[in-house]
Amino acid sequence: MMTVLDFSKKKSANQKISMVTCYDYWSAQILNKSQIDCLLVGDSAAMVMHGHDSTLPMDVKTMVLHVSSVRRGAPDKFIVADMPFLSHRKGTKFAMDSVEQLMRAGANAVKIEAQPGHEKIIKHIVDSGVPVMGHLGLTPQFVHQLGGYKVQGRDTSSSLRLLALSKALEESGCFALVAECIPETLAKKITMQLHIPTIGIGSGNETDGQVLVLQDLLGCQQGFQPKFVRHFTNLHDTILNAVNEYHSTVAEKAFPSSKEIYQ
Ligand code: KIV
Repeated sequence: MMTVLDFSKKKSANQKISMVTCYDYWSAQILNKSQIDCLLVGDSAAMVMHGHDSTLPMDVKTMVLHVSSVRRGAPDKFIVADMPFLSHRKGTKFAMDSVEQLMRAGANAVKIEAQPGHEKIIKHIVDSGVPVMGHLGLTPQFVHQLGGYKVQGRDTSSSLRLLALSKALEESGCFALVAECIPETLAKKITMQLHIPTIGIGSGNETDGQVLVLQDLLGCQQGFQPKFVRHFTNLHDTILNAVNEYHSTVAEKAFPSSKEIYQ
């Protein structure tokens, strides 16, 4: 299994880090056999698995359910668990209770969508022995403040703010950073100024690694393809065709066949 040390080793060796989201036991079982470096139990589960239109409805209890399912399916993978909306903003006790539940459920690290001012709680979590992955740029838990899911850090002042934030997160003890939807030039500057690795999503090819939502890379949803998403297969059609074939075979009374019946 990958460890926090391997993240920085990969950066030093100029080897890219691959991360993919995972929310459930059956896909975790498949990913456990893959070469992927690490799994992210993202709060995007609120949207992808539960059909919400943002990540805000996700809570600690539901995250714990997802993390424990993924751990049972992927015993050999490094698992990062998202701290859900507001869980690190309700005081140290609530934050640490949340961290404890996620780690006891099987996570190896927690991820925090960060803004200036979050350094103190991040440092406290790190000092308590829990690795923290920072997340900056388009931080979906801030969607209402950001005015939508938009590329961040396009102008000079916001790019300087993100550069400063990335440094502050490294100094607070984060072992890696997710950089979501920022211009490639800014992602490159952040990556070059930090010792810890950056893992990008929609942030170009200059970060130390990439992360994608599993269902996006598998092409599970028709009509949803932001510019930065590549469908590596078309699972939507594969599933639809298989289920329709099952339906017509049942309708034709051709399933089950004699071989599939206990005599
Ligand atoms: O929750 C999530 O899936 C994420 C990734 C988009 C990085 O945070």
